[in-house]
Amino acid sequence: MRVLVTGGAGYIGSHTLVPLLRAGHEVLVYDNYATSSPEALARVRQLANRDLAVVEGDIRDLALLDRTFASFRPDAVIHFAGLKAVGESHSQPLEYYAQNIAGSITLLQCMAQNGCTQIVFSSSATVYGEPDYLPYDEHHPLRPQSPYGRSKLMIETIIRDWTSANAGARAILLRYFNPVGAHPSGRIGEDPLGTPNNLMPYIAQVAIGRREALLVHGDDYDTRDGTGERDYIHVEDLARAHLAALDSLDRIDGCEAINVGTGQSATVLEMVAAFERASGRSVPYRIGPRRPGDVARMCADVAKARALMGWQAELGLDAMCSATWQWQSRNPTGYAPEVERD
Ligand code: NAD
Ligand code: UFG
Repeated sequence: MRVLVTGGAGYIGSHTLVPLLRAGHEVLVYDNYATSSPEALARVRQLANRDLAVVEGDIRDLALLDRTFASFRPDAVIHFAGLKAVGESHSQPLEYYAQNIAGSITLLQCMAQNGCTQIVFSSSATVYGEPDYLPYDEHHPLRPQSPYGRSKLMIETIIRDWTSANAGARAILLRYFNPVGAHPSGRIGEDPLGTPNNLMPYIAQVAIGRREALLVHGDDYDTRDGTGERDYIHVEDLARAHLAALDSLDRIDGCEAINVGTGQSATVLEMVAAFERASGRSVPYRIGPRRPGDVARMCADVAKARALMGWQAELGLDAMCSATWQWQSRNPTGYAPEVERD
């Protein structure tokens, strides 16, 4: 297949490119490097031992994107590009709506203009919001609590309407739970800009000595040990889910939303303990107040992913933590040379 990958230089995109290339697909990455580095793509080429085409551009640039579609002529799109920081989306909602929603509309327009009818979209479990019941299945009510989450839900709606309006159009909306981990080689991984918002990269930076201690956001939740519980999924499993989704597109009717998680959840303190085991380092922490907008527990019902795509997660917490440690210890400052980073 010829696959155009928006946001392919980012964390999840780069990990998906490796098995995509190894499976023999022809790939073009379209990315503006807003939150990523071309170095990730250089390492993907080495890991896959294959070349891939790259166009540096913004998904809102209709002219450039249209030219890219016209020359590459993709059979399908995997759409990762977008902004994803929940906290930042509260202070910059227009930026989130402009990049995520306007960018996705431009992408769909280019697909339509160039006869491309298949898309796999990076959605998020954050579209569910406060749980009525757990695990969340795909019929759970959708009540996102942030501009970021609302942008994901709006894009889901736009893509669904687009498939309804176009006979033959197919879309899979992958609702990721909490992606963590790295490629087992330690060559590619998650490289957040500045202070990490998410738990796993923060823990990894504490373990390597870049940060003093983890601040645990609350220990008074109704969970096993009072700290927040999440369904962490290894990015390698998540990468495979994208290949399964591509393979499933011609078997579905219109548009399907599918949870991508493990069906298991771990608390913050369980993650700290697992990381200490995997790295042999200690991860000091202190307990702080709850983070506004956090829910106590999130967990995926994964039956639909199994039934529709024949996919299920295979890797557990220990593999997630040791891969993250491999990446962090081999690349203490991510993709940038050490002198240039905080
Ligand atoms: P990331 O920030 O590492 O990657 C996003 C990529 O998109 C980057 O390479 C960035 O440069 C590119 N990009 C951003 N805006 C762009 C634009 N306007 N035009 C072209 N390229 C642009 O993030 P990630 O963790 O790899 O996430 C990928 C997708 O998965 C995102 O859509 C995100 O919302 C979604 N998602 C991520 C998580 C998570 O926890 N990582 C959870 C659920 C959903
Ligand atoms: N946490 C801490 N300290 C930190 C960071 C996080 O205690 O420094 C806790 C949080 O309170 C939460 C858990 O660790 O209980 C996980 O937090 P993350 O920020 O890593 O992840 P979230 O579940 O809040 O959100 C993530 C992504 C969203 C995505 C969502 C989907 O950031 O984009 O998963 O489930 F939508």
